[in-house]
Amino acid sequence: MQKIAQPFLRKLREEDIPQVVRIEKQAFALPWTAESFRSELKNNDFAHYLVVGDKREEEKVLAYGGFWLILDEAHITNIAVEEAYRGQKISLLLMEGLINDATLKGARLMTLEVRRSNLTAISLYEKLGFIPEGVRKYYYTDNNEDALIMWANLVQGGKVSGENSDFCDREQL
Ligand SMILES: CC(C)(COP(=O)(O)OP(=O)(O)OC[C@H]1O[C@@H](n2cnc3c(N)ncnc32)[C@H](O)[C@@H]1OP(=O)(O)O)[C@@H](O)C(=O)NCCC(=O)NCCS
Repeated sequence: MQKIAQPFLRKLREEDIPQVVRIEKQAFALPWTAESFRSELKNNDFAHYLVVGDKREEEKVLAYGGFWLILDEAHITNIAVEEAYRGQKISLLLMEGLINDATLKGARLMTLEVRRSNLTAISLYEKLGFIPEGVRKYYYTDNNEDALIMWANLVQGGKVSGENSDFCDREQL
């Protein structure tokens, strides 16, 4: 495992996209392309993305995630942490950033889909107050796996402590 030294949290920039795509390919069987991330940044007013990086490593991006804000619902699109840096609460830091950003922008609910077999991610989401509320059968086309649909109420019962943000530099979102 590589230790994160000096974390920062900020909005995704176009120049981060090659690093994001590298992590995306490690993390997902059906990865988004650089073009899809570029289009999210340029053409999708509903889309909001954040990255976590390490200042000590020349602004290296170690994790990213995003959501689409539709009325008062924030739909998580993707979240991933570079393999060598997992297990250091980076995803918690990122999810807290996304939840705070979505709340500031008016979201009251947050939702996402996750593979039934992805117990690591399910555990992360449950920790943040997400509850499984439905299933999309055969949602993932690579192996026909079902998606669990999870929801969190950001207004009541939110479990965002902010404790993971203490060690991190964050720009005003
Ligand atoms: C899921 C993922 C984002 C977690 O990132 P991470 O930075 O390693 O996770 P964290 O260190 O922040 O851990 C947060 C919580 O996730 C869960 N978790 C993390 N690693 C775990 C593991 N190996 N086994 C079980 N639960 C685990 C735990 O609940 C953990 O909280 P805890 O440390 O208090 O027990 C990362 O594994 C990843 O990028 N996976 C591939 C992409 C992916 O599956 N994304 C989600 C798509 S829906």
